[in-house]
Amino acid sequence: MDEIATPGAVVDLDRLEANLARMQSYANGHGLRLRPHTKTHKAKWLAEAQAGLGAAGVTVATPVEARRMAGASPELLVAYPALGARADAIAAVAGETPTLVALDSAEAVRQLAAAVERAGTGPVGVLVELDVGMRRCGVADADAAVRVARACGDAVVYRGVMFYPGHIRDPVEEQDRALEALRVQLDGVIATLGEAGLEPAIVSGGSTPTAFRSHEVPVQTEIRPGTYAFNDRTTAAIGACARDDCAYTILATVVSTAVPGQAVVDAGSKALSSDPLRGGEAGGFGELLDRPEVTVARLSEEHGILDLSGTDWRPRVGDRVRIIPNHVCVSVNLQMEVHGVRGDRLERSWEPEARGWG
Ligand SMILES: Cc1ncc(COP(=O)(O)O)c(C=O)c1O
Repeated sequence: MDEIATPGAVVDLDRLEANLARMQSYANGHGLRLRPHTKTHKAKWLAEAQAGLGAAGVTVATPVEARRMAGASPELLVAYPALGARADAIAAVAGETPTLVALDSAEAVRQLAAAVERAGTGPVGVLVELDVGMRRCGVADADAAVRVARACGDAVVYRGVMFYPGHIRDPVEEQDRALEALRVQLDGVIATLGEAGLEPAIVSGGSTPTAFRSHEVPVQTEIRPGTYAFNDRTTAAIGACARDDCAYTILATVVSTAVPGQAVVDAGSKALSSDPLRGGEAGGFGELLDRPEVTVARLSEEHGILDLSGTDWRPRVGDRVRIIPNHVCVSVNLQMEVHGVRGDRLERSWEPEARGWG
């Protein structure tokens, strides 16, 4: 690891492999298809590894993710409405690999159908997105879902529904009420769709915080967790993984200890991202892998300020530390290169080639 320049993204390959295997085994054990969201790792070789373990497909959000992940798995799901230039980009990808798009309006259906016809690439499947509480995308009720499903035709073919339970950020053992509400809502929507002759072949759900309780919402046919591959400080704080399952860290060098009570590392917001911790009591922008009591209390673009008030440890200028970020997906998007290590040995480095907008 001494060869890695700082700040640098470092993935513990043993932990990564265990995380991937654990989720696939959970999905297999409950008869759920796994369609991991690749926005977390943004690397085609990792999507291929997930498919190799048994993932039925992978999920993407952006056109560049769609282009890079095309062909990595049996079927791509673009879990984001494809409008304007996005529709043309997705229609082109659909010529290479079986593709589904999640959307929530008749206008999005119309634009996607027009793009597919322009590209002459054959049909794209559609999942109608339902809002189950996040208040982001998704139709509000079953009647609206019926209307969007009925707008589909031959170029874009209705295949089912998608929802993202991203509003459920409670500690895993405190999710009972939210999961029960989700189950009741979904059962109702799916019954209405069935009565309208629109029974969904696919009911796509899942997130990392709720992943291992997905079987409690039995109507779903598949789950799309993404963060589980690397995990992060948020995932550990809500108990969706053990702290030792955090595979991704930012390796950083202590560049200053001049101000008493703190140390400054060369990982700022451009390496860690400035996303807050969601769930959990602690603040800050990350914590040390080996010293959870030491957090990154403040950030500039190139500086991370370690709070030393809870420790006797006094780092020296030049020391190297590893930091678990609050939100791994945003941190990966900031990296030109990611380094995979086994213990202290660098085994391989790769570009997260689906980063950015392309
Ligand atoms: C639509 C959708 N599906 C799946 C995921 C993956 O969820 P998680 O990051 O909790 O693994 C996300 C994450 O943002 C998402 O937006």
